[in-house]
Amino acid sequence: MSAFPPSGDAPRQAHSASPAGEVPVDAAPSPSGRPAVAGMIDAGESDRASRFWWDSDAEDYHRRHGGFLGTDRPEGDFVWCPEGLREADVGLLGPIEGRDILEVGCGSAPCARWLAANGARRVVGIDISAGMLGRAVAAIGASPGPRPYLVQASAQHLPLASNSFDAVCSAFGAIPFVADTAGVMAEVARVLRPGGRWVFSVNHPFRWAFLDDPGPEGLIATLSYFDRTPYTEYEDGRLTYVEHHRTVGDRIRDIVSAGLVLDDLIEPEWPEDGETSWEQWSPLRGQLLPATAIFVCHKP
Ligand SMILES: C[S@@+](CC[C@H](N)C(=O)[O-])C[C@H]1O[C@@H](n2cnc3c(N)ncnc32)[C@H](O)[C@@H]1O
Repeated sequence: MSAFPPSGDAPRQAHSASPAGEVPVDAAPSPSGRPAVAGMIDAGESDRASRFWWDSDAEDYHRRHGGFLGTDRPEGDFVWCPEGLREADVGLLGPIEGRDILEVGCGSAPCARWLAANGARRVVGIDISAGMLGRAVAAIGASPGPRPYLVQASAQHLPLASNSFDAVCSAFGAIPFVADTAGVMAEVARVLRPGGRWVFSVNHPFRWAFLDDPGPEGLIATLSYFDRTPYTEYEDGRLTYVEHHRTVGDRIRDIVSAGLVLDDLIEPEWPEDGETSWEQWSPLRGQLLPATAIFVCHKP
């Protein structure tokens, strides 16, 4: 698996770890109209697996990555990616002060907390995992500062009014884990006000072709970039983790078909002083291959 920050399990060796090679088939037509394909995992199954995974992994995830992400600070921090790009420096969301902003897949909400602390009028953080959201509540504690509203829900069905946000963001939250990515783009377009921005960071799609290995093995393209079969893990026959791949073209089509405009695709470079290896992320790979893609869009 290759979520950022990575979950720390075994390196991704193939696109499915299904028992006995059996892969559940999505029989229902996808809400986005994309045809169901053998080996695909549907939206409900994906959500159940993600809720299970992120509830179980919340403590470990924060022990490993909380320092880098600023999760323990009540006022949070907004880091877009392992290359360390901060919203405070790049301003991809535009002006924050007085704005209504939604974060999708907020986890313990370091980004949503940072937006609230930096003058946004109303911030909502949505995540599917109570375990992850509980960490936000613990970090905020009795701090008197401004805080986001936290909602447990799936990005597949945002329980929010249409035309209610000036900006929507996601830093490696939800998008790699949902089955119907086009449906999520449509949901985001629905809740955005005209002129509003939608910025999300994900694993760079090229990474799909490589094993999650920080060393030289991780530089050899071994898996098909074109294979959209999701990466899965099972425990006692139960789906416990799923990650969905989209090519660059798929992502652009999802955005455009939702009626959004793609303004930029940012591929941050590995920082010169970034010498630390983060499980599958390493300077060796970072200097040769992009790790992250940040899609910057707006609703006309
Ligand atoms: C890699 S974490 C990133 C969290 C946060 N953005 C951060 O930087 O710490 C991915 C998050 O996406 C959430 N997630 C996964 N599937 C989701 C879904 N369908 N809807 C909403 N959130 C989801 C997980 O619960 C998890 O908190």
